[in-house]
Amino acid sequence: MTVSEIRAKYLEFFKARTHEVIPSVSLVPENDPTTLFISSGMQPLLPYFLGATHPMGSRVTNAQKSLRTQDIEEVGDNRHTTFFEMLGNWSFGDYFKTQQLSWFYEFLTDVVGVDPSRLYVTAFIGDEVLGIPKDTESGQVWKELFSAKGIDALEVDVGTEQNGAEIGMRGGRIFYYNAEKNWWSRAGAPAGMPTGEPGGPDSEVFYDFDPTGSMHNPSFGKECHPNCDCGRFMEIGNSVFMMYVKKEDGSFGELPAKNVDFGGGLERIAAASNNNGDVFLIDALQLVIRELASSGKNYNDPEYQPSFRIVADHLRAAVFMLGDGVRPSNTERGYILRRLIRRSVRHLDKLQIDASVVGRIVDLLIEYYRDQYSELSASHSAILSGILDEERQFRKTLMNGMKEFDKISKKGSITGEDAFLLFTTYGFPYEVTEELARERGLTFSREEFSKKMEEHQKLSRAGAAQKFTGGLADHAEQTIRYHTAHHLLLKALQLVLGSDVHQRGSNITSERLRIDFSYGSKMTPEQKTEVERIVNEKINEQLPVFRTVMPKEDAEKFGAEHEFGVKYPEMVSVYSVGPVHGTADAPQIAEAYSIEFCGGPHVSNTSELGQGGKQFKIQKEEAVAQGIRRIKAIFV
Ligand code: SER
Repeated sequence: MTVSEIRAKYLEFFKARTHEVIPSVSLVPENDPTTLFISSGMQPLLPYFLGATHPMGSRVTNAQKSLRTQDIEEVGDNRHTTFFEMLGNWSFGDYFKTQQLSWFYEFLTDVVGVDPSRLYVTAFIGDEVLGIPKDTESGQVWKELFSAKGIDALEVDVGTEQNGAEIGMRGGRIFYYNAEKNWWSRAGAPAGMPTGEPGGPDSEVFYDFDPTGSMHNPSFGKECHPNCDCGRFMEIGNSVFMMYVKKEDGSFGELPAKNVDFGGGLERIAAASNNNGDVFLIDALQLVIRELASSGKNYNDPEYQPSFRIVADHLRAAVFMLGDGVRPSNTERGYILRRLIRRSVRHLDKLQIDASVVGRIVDLLIEYYRDQYSELSASHSAILSGILDEERQFRKTLMNGMKEFDKISKKGSITGEDAFLLFTTYGFPYEVTEELARERGLTFSREEFSKKMEEHQKLSRAGAAQKFTGGLADHAEQTIRYHTAHHLLLKALQLVLGSDVHQRGSNITSERLRIDFSYGSKMTPEQKTEVERIVNEKINEQLPVFRTVMPKEDAEKFGAEHEFGVKYPEMVSVYSVGPVHGTADAPQIAEAYSIEFCGGPHVSNTSELGQGGKQFKIQKEEAVAQGIRRIKAIFV
C-alpha cells in the first residue's frame, strides 16, 4: 500500500468508529515553549488529557506532521527519518485498552493486510515503588487477539532492555518491559517527568522484518528481542494509556479520566506493508530517490546509499518546515532547518548531483503531499527559494570557510576552538566541520566545541551587562546610538576615501558624534554625500550588532579596526555590524559590514539609529592637524 492509501484508510477506519478527523497542526508549536517542533500528535491535545472538553467530542483522529531532531545524526540507516507523519487516534475518557488494542490490530491485519505472525507486542511490567501494577489487562487482550488468528501468544517478563539482550525471545509474543520502554509522557519515563505532567503505561506493536533472526548483530546485545536496535524489529504503533499525572511529592495520581493516546509512524507502517525494513523504499520517499538516481548513481551502492537517504529525508523535512513558515537562521528552528539544508547540499555534492535537482524534488514532494497538506502548494515559491537561497549562501560560506579549514587541518587535528571559530565566523555548522574532519581522518572533539560555545554565550551575556565608557560622555540612549553610528561612519569613510583611513580620536555625546581620522585632504561634497548615503543605507538594512570576545590574533585576522596607539590584551572584545543573518551565537564576522576592537556599549540593531525617520548627516568636516581630519555628525 502507498503512504497516501494507508493514511486515507486509517482515517476512514476511525471515522467509521465515530471519530472526528481533526486537522494536522503546524510543525511549529503554538503556546508551547518547551519544544521547538511538534514531534507527536498528542502535543496540541494536552489540555484534553488534563480534563478540558474537546470541541469535537471524546473521539478524535488525524495524521500529524511531526519532526524529531534528535535523530538527525542517525539519518542514513534504513529506518531513521527526521520528518514523519504520525497517525493518531485519541479517546478522552471514552474507550480504553480493549477497544484500542483490538482496533489497531484489526487495522493492521485486516485493512493494511499485515501478516499477524510478523507482529510482536510489549506492555508495562509494573513498578512497585510507583504503585503502578503490571499491565496484564493489555496482555490478556493481546492473547485473545492473536489467538483469534490462530497464534498462541506466550508472555515473557523482560524488565530492562539489558535483560532482554540476555534472555532473548524465549518463544514469546507478548513482552513486558520496565518504564524505560513501556511508559510514555512528553518527558519520557516517570523519573524525568515534571509535576503536573500526564503520562501512562503503553503497549507497543513491533513488526518483524527477519523471522529467521539471521540479521541480528551481537554488537546490539547478545540476543535479539523486540526492543533490540539491530533492525529486525521496528516499532510501528504505540498505544499510551494516559491516566496518571505526576504529583508534587513525586508520586502519581490519576487524571480526571482514563484516556488513550495512540501514535503510529505512517512511513513505518508503509514499510511493514511492503515487508521491507528500508523505509526509504516507500513510495513517498522513492520519488525523491528515483530523481536522485537519474544522475547515474546507484541507490544500492553502499558508498552512496546514506547520501541518497540523507538528501531524501532532509529535503522532505525542509519542504514541510518552510511550508510552515520556518526560515533558515542561526538559532532554534531556523538553525535546524539550516543544518538540514546544508547537510543535503553536502550529500548532493557527494552524489555529484547538481543542485538544480532540488527544484524538481520540491515539485515532486509538493505534488505528492498537496492534497493532504494544502499549505505546501500555497507556499510553493517560498519553499523553493528558501532552499535555493540557503544553498547559495552555504556555497559562499563553504568557499570562505574551506580555505580556513584547509589551513587549520594541516595540523592534523581540529580542536574545539577551531570548530568554534569556523562556526562563529564562517558559519560552518559544527556537523560540517565534524564530517569534514572525519572524511579527512582528523581528530575532532565535540565536547570541546560545546564547551567553547558555552563560554562564548556566558561571555556575551556578561558583556551585555558590563559597561564601558570608552570615548563616550555617558551611556544615555542617544549617546549609544551615536556610538554605533560612529562605527558605521568609520567604515563608510574607508569605503569612500580608501582603506588607509583610520580613527585617530573620538568624542561622543548625546548631541552629536565627533571622529578624527587620517586623511590628507578636504572631502568633496560628493564624497560627503556618498558617506552619508552609505551610513543611512546600513541603518535601513537593519543590521544586527554583536559583541564577540576572541583572541586578539583572530580579531586582527578579520581586519578589525584598532584604536591608534592602544595596547590590547590577549582576549579582546570586538563589535561587528551585520550581516543580517548573523546571530549572537554565530555573528558571521567574516561577512560583517564593520568590525572594530571596542568595549561598547552599542545598540543591538542599526534600525534603532534611524528612529523617528531621522537621517544621518555630516554637519562639519575640517582639518585638525597635518593629515588628520575631523567630522561632526548628527541625526536630523
Ligand atoms: N504520544 C505517543 C508517541 O508519541 C503516542 O502517540 O509515541
